[in-house]
Amino acid sequence: MGRLLFTGGTVVTAEGSYQADVLIKDEKIVAVGKDLSGDGAETVDVSGKLVMPGFIDAHTHMDMPFGGTVTADDWATGTAAVAAGGTTMIIDFALQEEGGTLAGAVETWTEKARDKALIDYGFHVAITDLRDDVKTELPSLAAKGIASVKIFMAYKGTPLYSEDDDLFEVLQLSKDAGVLVLVHAENGDVIAKLQEQALARGDIAPRFHALTRPPQVEAEATGRAIRLAEVAGAPILIVHVSCAPALEEIHRAHERGQTVYAETCPQYFAFSYSDLAREGFQGAKYVCSPPLRDESNRPALWNGLKVGDLQIFGSDHCSFNYEGQKELGKEDFTLIPNGLPGVEERAMALWTLGVRKGRLSENQFVAALSTNQARIYGMYPKKGALVPGADADIVLWDPELSVMATVENRHGNVDYTPYEGMAFDGGPASVYVRGRLVYRDGEIMGEHGSGRFVERSFTATRGLEARV
Ligand code: URP
Ligand code: ZN
Ligand code: ZN
Repeated sequence: MGRLLFTGGTVVTAEGSYQADVLIKDEKIVAVGKDLSGDGAETVDVSGKLVMPGFIDAHTHMDMPFGGTVTADDWATGTAAVAAGGTTMIIDFALQEEGGTLAGAVETWTEKARDKALIDYGFHVAITDLRDDVKTELPSLAAKGIASVKIFMAYKGTPLYSEDDDLFEVLQLSKDAGVLVLVHAENGDVIAKLQEQALARGDIAPRFHALTRPPQVEAEATGRAIRLAEVAGAPILIVHVSCAPALEEIHRAHERGQTVYAETCPQYFAFSYSDLAREGFQGAKYVCSPPLRDESNRPALWNGLKVGDLQIFGSDHCSFNYEGQKELGKEDFTLIPNGLPGVEERAMALWTLGVRKGRLSENQFVAALSTNQARIYGMYPKKGALVPGADADIVLWDPELSVMATVENRHGNVDYTPYEGMAFDGGPASVYVRGRLVYRDGEIMGEHGSGRFVERSFTATRGLEARV
């Protein structure tokens, strides 16, 4: 691979925006500055574009068994959608099988990804079976470059669900092992009870998915997980925060000086409870957990992103076809596989609804999509930065691009998009992973199998530093 010189663009990082050229040699950025001489480099005029570090999405579910089926996107179609969204690296959830080991989960996910990934990737391990040998095994993840695990407080009655004692012990073990614990915070017991009562009444439609998972069950579990982390003296990350009451728990922890990281997702800004109540069975297309909320939650979530109580914006891309998959729950909403596609729309949604509406700066946009993800998940400044020595993961962002989302122009493998008909103002024009062009103007250019596993190592920031 040779040298590439981007000239005439505006560099936008988490810290600021300025006019500069960017020089790439082989897979790395070698210089960022004014009037760089490329020494024979291929020059790319990027006037009018914003030059940003490649986006990172640390919350995806590719080729994952869930809800009695398997996600519609595998690592080929899923990472095509990733690249088309301006994202150059994902961290996907490798699921421990019942009776299986954590290393086994990593091996299985490595096989799924290896020949198909278009972009770079890492793994979190979702712990589902905390046996004694798994407790002994957990610390070995750090040496494999897997710096995070996930525990589910929800999904009672499935192998994913964990009791508090397991969550607590994982927090204790992870703290000593240099591993960050991610938590799906919803009270699984209360949800199971409310679901049972709803079905007994004959309430089977998709909207009962949200009505049996009210904001309080998310807030209660968020507060509980944070307090358990406090007792264990461990940092914690709450994924997919959907509502104001859960965010309040995080804010209070930050005020106490506790190290709590938190993520929110595009679906909680683009959609609401009313989408679950769409005519017929269409609401099934909007079933995810935590569920879509009332719009009254949004100002608090925007403020959370702005002040840093929510540091990262992940997609929680977990795609299922409507036909044959979402339809599994036609007679019983609890059987609708949970999850939405969104990896392609994540950045465009945040730009359109956040930056264009003046709710976030372009620098906060880069922080939430890239730099904070790299810092928190332990790969900064290799990823998430436009500095000499960093991987040449670059998005050329066109603030004037107009895209109307429709299932026909999506790059994943799903038979619908929840964003159908939604207009985005601004999007990626070209996307480079380690200096290789993977996407340009609607077309995938990269090679499947060219993505690489990225080793990560976690170091917690303390107290209020976790806010920003
Ligand atoms: O509905 C969702 N979020 N599906 C994906 C699994 C999870 O809980 O993250
Ligand atoms: Zn979850
Ligand atoms: Zn998820």
